[in-house]
Amino acid sequence: MKEILLNTSDNTCRVLVGEPFKNIRNFLPDKKLVIITDENVHKHYGEFFPDGLLITLKPGESSKTLGIASDIYGKLIQHEIDRKSFILGVGGGIVCDIAGYIASTYLRGLSFGFVSTSLLSQVDASIGGKNGVNYEGYKNMVGVIRQPDFVICDPTMLNTLPVEEYHRGFAEVIKYGAIVDAELFDFLEKHHQEALDGDKGILEEIIGICAETKCRIVEGDEKETGERKLLNFGHTFAHAFEKNAGMPHGEAVSVGMILAAGISVKLGKISLQDVDRLRDLLKKFQLPVEYPHSFDDVFEVMKRDKKRDGDTIGLILLDAIGRAVISDIQLSTFKNWIDDLR
Ligand code: GLY
Repeated sequence: MKEILLNTSDNTCRVLVGEPFKNIRNFLPDKKLVIITDENVHKHYGEFFPDGLLITLKPGESSKTLGIASDIYGKLIQHEIDRKSFILGVGGGIVCDIAGYIASTYLRGLSFGFVSTSLLSQVDASIGGKNGVNYEGYKNMVGVIRQPDFVICDPTMLNTLPVEEYHRGFAEVIKYGAIVDAELFDFLEKHHQEALDGDKGILEEIIGICAETKCRIVEGDEKETGERKLLNFGHTFAHAFEKNAGMPHGEAVSVGMILAAGISVKLGKISLQDVDRLRDLLKKFQLPVEYPHSFDDVFEVMKRDKKRDGDTIGLILLDAIGRAVISDIQLSTFKNWIDDLR
């Protein structure tokens, strides 16, 4: 078990990689408990849940809306959940995002923690305090940054994930290798088969490395004014693909990283061989490397991205495998690049 502390100005979050879910009661304060989960997670693990008010969502992005948040507020009021209560999110990125959002806004904020059940959320989404919901398909447009008290990442829970969802989590793992950790990138090239097979030791090592990297980046830049932006490598494209084509996040990030790497080549930052390396690694994890839909309207969505600043958009590009940079690109230039892809 590896414990990583994420210290921010108003909280210390304990990230516990390898902590068994069945120990959850040891981490809960002596408070009234609300558990937010989804139907899939409940089906597999419900019998081990501690007692509390249980709110079970439908799996998928359709639950990450203001409408569902409003329904949950109603249930909390109906059950007289007060400021002394604790909210536990048990699920993947979507459940953690909405549970954290509810905990951060209901009665102006309750304490909360997560049991993170997907690879994608164990390495990225559940760590770092980004909580929010989508607005009419625009990803994470409404939300807050507020840290949970703990995040439990139990890799044995990944055994019950559908195989494609497991693969999707590796898009975020490869992202860390590409943006800040060339050694992790090499490691994944060497150990992709064990990782795909769910080898416990390799998996725990990978999750531990990613969680540690995420904590250090968030500690240095919680509010995303600098280095944290690097974690958005591939995400500006990805959010448009998710909105326009309903592509799952990990797959959209995979394609988005290839396109951002292509732009990095265009600007003379990396070589075509670097892009081939990235493409080969993504393919080893059975992730897509091409957008199989029309690029029409992709720019329209991308220009509403949170990284836009007036006439420019902050794109995360690669300077090398293992080193990302933020580049402010003129929107008109960016539009021409997207038009070239059509
Ligand atoms: N998922 C990117 C971040 O937390 O900053």
